[in-house]
Amino acid sequence: MTDNSKPLDPQKIPRHVAIIMDGNGRWAQRRGFHRVRGHVAGAESVRVVTRLARQLGISYLTLFAFSEENWQRPGMEIRVLMALLRRYLHRELSEMRDNQIALKAIGDLSQLPEAVQRDLEQTIAATAAGARMDLTLALSYGGRSEIVHAVQSLAREVAAGLLTPEDIDAARFARHLYTAGMPDPDLIIRTSGEYRLSNFLLWQSAYTELYVTETLWPDFRENEFLTALEIYQQRQRRFGLTQEQIEALNGKEPRD
Ligand code: IPE
Ligand code: IPE
Ligand code: MG
Repeated sequence: MTDNSKPLDPQKIPRHVAIIMDGNGRWAQRRGFHRVRGHVAGAESVRVVTRLARQLGISYLTLFAFSEENWQRPGMEIRVLMALLRRYLHRELSEMRDNQIALKAIGDLSQLPEAVQRDLEQTIAATAAGARMDLTLALSYGGRSEIVHAVQSLAREVAAGLLTPEDIDAARFARHLYTAGMPDPDLIIRTSGEYRLSNFLLWQSAYTELYVTETLWPDFRENEFLTALEIYQQRQRRFGLTQEQIEALNGKEPRD
């Protein structure tokens, strides 16, 4: 818990937290370093936040690590990011296993270098039994491509006569996304002060609470994460209902 703040309500721990880990480059440049130093520092935030999420009982943590659009960055930066990803997978395997964390990945993984794909597959297989938390890395991920991919998959089923167009509803559609089987995120955190989704979880974020902090990702550690969760716990999620309806559902006397 942060200084001068309330402890978290264990009844209101979000089930699924997703994070747009942004600001690594600026963190490094402000220190006169090359951008890639920021990615190295950001990897430590991933460790810290993952550990705390697991301790708090968050069941799903999804981290936006590399977007489809990030392929347009300089080749050297991409190579460093891929090397850091491999190093991260090797270093964290035992911690994931010890803590019953299952690694997952979403995105167009076929675009990743073969060595990365291999390491990912091995880590996913080696942690598959982890029942306490799913740690999902969004890699070569784009929300629009994910939706297009789902549409193609459904269209193929219709064309094959397995489905009629009327069989397609939101629940069936969601089962064709990369996130099939995962609950929608309760909270999306974005670091570095940018108020945008940058093509992250477009379908899944329909009713997600959004939290933006100016803190750059390499500086986002325990206290910043706890602050985000405290602010989340103060939100009232209404899903289109009135405040009175929500309070009745929560078993409270409606306010007049
Ligand atoms: C986020 O940090 C990491 C990735 C997108 C891979 P950035 O590299 O985008 O950092 P800024 O936004 O340039 O500071
Ligand atoms: C979003 O950050 C992608 C990741 C955090 C991996 P970007 O830095 O790529 O987003 P924009 O370009 O500022 O929207
Ligand atoms: Mg950025």
